[in-house]
Amino acid sequence: MWGPEGLDEVEAELLGPPEELKGRDVLELGAGAAQCSRWLAAQGARPVALDISHRQLQHALRIGGEFPLVCADAGALPFADVSFDLACSAYGALPFVADPRLVLREVRRVLRPGGRLVFSVTHPIRWAFPDEPGPEGLSVSGSYFDRTPYVEQDDTGHAVYVEHHRTLGDRVRDVVASGFRLVDLVEPEWPEWNTSEWGGWSPLRGALIPGTAIFVCVRD
Ligand SMILES: C[S@@+](CC[C@H](N)C(=O)[O-])C[C@H]1O[C@@H](n2cnc3c(N)ncnc32)[C@H](O)[C@@H]1O
Repeated sequence: MWGPEGLDEVEAELLGPPEELKGRDVLELGAGAAQCSRWLAAQGARPVALDISHRQLQHALRIGGEFPLVCADAGALPFADVSFDLACSAYGALPFVADPRLVLREVRRVLRPGGRLVFSVTHPIRWAFPDEPGPEGLSVSGSYFDRTPYVEQDDTGHAVYVEHHRTLGDRVRDVVASGFRLVDLVEPEWPEWNTSEWGGWSPLRGALIPGTAIFVCVRD
């Protein structure tokens, strides 16, 4: 699943035709509980699920799956050069790092020539709106161009959640400057069948503004 709209890989085929996933080495970045890796393994691919959070990987372990789980920073991948055919990420790692080019260059390093990276992030336009599913989430409340990160702190002042904003142009430049060719930018529309609300995502907002941006990149 690429985002809260409900677009899944069966429908989107952004990693390529399903029959070609068989036997492919796939790196999932910011895997969380590794839902994507579990699906990839079921297609016959050979996924590796990577996340910086040990707690998230414990959930992945509890749910199960016959693939490796790796606790590491996406900006310092513990893999040899050219060791994967594909890389993917659904809202993982990239929105949470101050230097996304570090991550993208690392992914490029570990991909084989011709390899593909597909990643989804919150659509950058959402930065200008309150993160609310109702009508209050439809009026611009901040600048789309303000790159000040969103930070939540605990009682002692330590950052416990940080999200970094990049404009659409920033993201395109990051991809290109890291040595990838951008082959598609998918903005899934909210489908009629999806009546659920999740955080700031809802049918009301989904009908009017995009919620997810999916970048399809190739390492030539
Ligand atoms: C919003 S969750 C997405 C999880 C999963 N991909 C999904 O679709 O449910 C973001 C994940 O990125 C991970 N993450 C954040 N920064 C990271 C980094 N620098 N390296 C690797 N993983 C990171 C978080 O621990 C978290 O599990």
